[in-house]
Parts: sequence; C-alpha cells; structure tokens
Amino acid sequence: MPTSSTSFEVLPSNQPTAGSIRDNILANPGFGKYFTDHMVNVRWTVDAGWHGHQVRPYGPLTLDPAASVLHYGQEIFEGIKAYRHADGSVWTFRPEKNAERFRRSARRLALPELTDEDFIGSIKALLAQDHTWVPTPSSDTDECSLYLRPFMIASEAFLGVRPAHEVDYYVIASPAASYFKGGISPVSIWLSSHYKRAAAGGTGFAKCGGNYAASLAAQKEAESHGCGQVVFLDAAESKWIEELGGMNLFFVFKDGRLVTPRLTDTILEGVTRNSVLTLAKDEGLTPEERPISIDEWREGAASGEITEVFACGTAAVITPVGELVTEDERIRLNGDGGNEVAMRIRKKLLDVQYGRSEDKHGWLTQLV
Ligand code: COI
Repeated sequence: MPTSSTSFEVLPSNQPTAGSIRDNILANPGFGKYFTDHMVNVRWTVDAGWHGHQVRPYGPLTLDPAASVLHYGQEIFEGIKAYRHADGSVWTFRPEKNAERFRRSARRLALPELTDEDFIGSIKALLAQDHTWVPTPSSDTDECSLYLRPFMIASEAFLGVRPAHEVDYYVIASPAASYFKGGISPVSIWLSSHYKRAAAGGTGFAKCGGNYAASLAAQKEAESHGCGQVVFLDAAESKWIEELGGMNLFFVFKDGRLVTPRLTDTILEGVTRNSVLTLAKDEGLTPEERPISIDEWREGAASGEITEVFACGTAAVITPVGELVTEDERIRLNGDGGNEVAMRIRKKLLDVQYGRSEDKHGWLTQLV
C-alpha cells in the first residue's frame, strides 16, 4: 500500500462545548449519544485522489439527495477507542489493525483505499483538538473511553449503479461508557433461525453499514424474546456459529481450550477477537479457531464441557453470555465458574489498554 503523510488543516469550532457541560456528559456518557466539538473530513475524487485533509467543527453534513450512499449503501466504517492513562496521556489500541481492515472493507465495497498514515493521522489530528473529551476511568473496572468512528461514504450525486467518483472520509468521536446498559452482566442471546447475516462471496467480512442494517430485523426479534443480542448461523447449512452481528463469540471448554469460529468471508475479523486469542495463550489457555456448530454449543452446555461463552468487540469489550434462547428452548451453561475466564481475559485486556500493565505485544499508540 502506498503511504504518504499529510497534515490536516484545523478549523477550530467557535462554539466549543462549555467545560461544565462536557464534564457532566463525561460523568455519564452512555454509548454513542454525545459527540465532541470537531470531526475529520478528507475528500476523494477520481481525478485528484485523497485531498482537503481537515479537522473542522462537528456538525451536520451537506449531502446531495442523489448521493449514491443514500441509494446503494456504498459505505464502510470502523470502531476504535482512545483511552486515558493515569498520567493523563491518551492512547489507542492496535490502530494499524483497524486501518488494514478499513482498506479490506474499502476493496469489497469498491471504495478507494485510505493509507494507514492517513487513517492513523486522522485520529491523531482529531484527538489533538478534542483530547479533553477522553474520560478518566474511576476504577480498574471502569471501561470509559472516547469511541472513535471513522467512516467513508459515496458522496457523488449520481443515480447510476457504479462505484462513486466522489467519496468522503470522516471521523467523529463519542465519549463512551459500557456498550450494554447493564454493564458486564451476562447477556441473553437469541438464535436467529430464519435470518442470515452473510453468505459466501458477500460482504460479511467487511465492516459496512449494509451488514448491520440486515441484522436489525433479527435484533428486533431478539428483543421481542427478551434477548439483548442475536447469534447468526451460516447461510448454507444453518449449522455453524458465525457471530453476533457486532461481536465475535468465544467458548471456554473445561479442559482449557478456548474456541472461536474460524474466519471465513462471512465473519468480521475483530481486533478484540485477535487480541483475545493472543492473551489466552499468555494465560495458558489453548486457543482454537475452528468451525463450531450450534449442536456443539447445546451439547457442551448440557454436559458441562463448555463452561463459559463470551462475546467480544471494540464497543462491547468482553461480555459474558448467560443463555442461548431459541423458539423452543433456553440453553444455560451448567458450569459454575462465574465467567472466571471471560473476566480474567477482560481484565488483562483493559489493563493493557489503560496502561496498567506492560504492553508486551506493542499494541498501544500514543495520541496525546
Ligand atoms: C464496534 O465494536 O466498534 C462496533 O462497531 C460494533 C457495534 C456493535 C458498535
């Protein structure tokens, strides 16, 4: 990938949020509800390539109603966080993995690739303006952060179906607490027997809005059954566990194996998933990436072979799964380990992200 380092023009907001209002928000940010004072924008055109790198005041976009993203959904995004360490410095976690996935998603959606330098540079440029929006954790279990949302849209006004000739890249930032309202209490998962998220050759491995839009009907179904998330099975056989739509899944076996579905082009490669595989090895567990069927979940839960199930993602961090709910059964785990493995790996991960333990894998990048 060609690389180039570009500086960002800064147009400061002349109406920044008052410090007292910002502090109130940071004390209880929820997830995805509040946004910082600035955003990044970089434009791309067929003729000029990427240009016009800017940090400018956060605000509504002016978009032609014919912009092709509004009609054909040519869009991709990322999720990455900024963490405040005890000495006040601000860091992010494995941004090169997100940059690489963003390029992979761009290729699948026929969007232009952004260099890793521009991807990471855009985050640094935004944080240089908005670092006061990064919350300070109140304890070692507090997972507050500044959630960053880089995204790219086809902004060309054109109704023909072809890759857009004009594209915009943005980064917005939102102070965040736990993704789930209940914090880290175990989540119930609905098994979607009808809806599928992805099929071979499709966009399942890409982080594009369409995948998430397609998961919403199943999510509504889950909520109507009292569940917080949905697990999707493969489209070909309705047998193999894929992912939750916005999170990857892990299964803890009583003999120390930690199993997660092997990556295919129907599963998103999570940065947290990848990090859990490494941390598990450090913890003496035996990670396994392989196909795992819904029957293995059912039988492993009944026999006690599977002692824990957990979901992971940038937004969700690591969240224990309490039960699997289907049309005719509720599958609970017989193990009584109190999600010990999930909580141990979660602590390891958070300790690295917040600078409380040695970053022995070189995962952190300083932003401020
Ligand atoms: C993330 O974890 O960053 C995501 O994009 C998933 C979404 C459920 C917020």
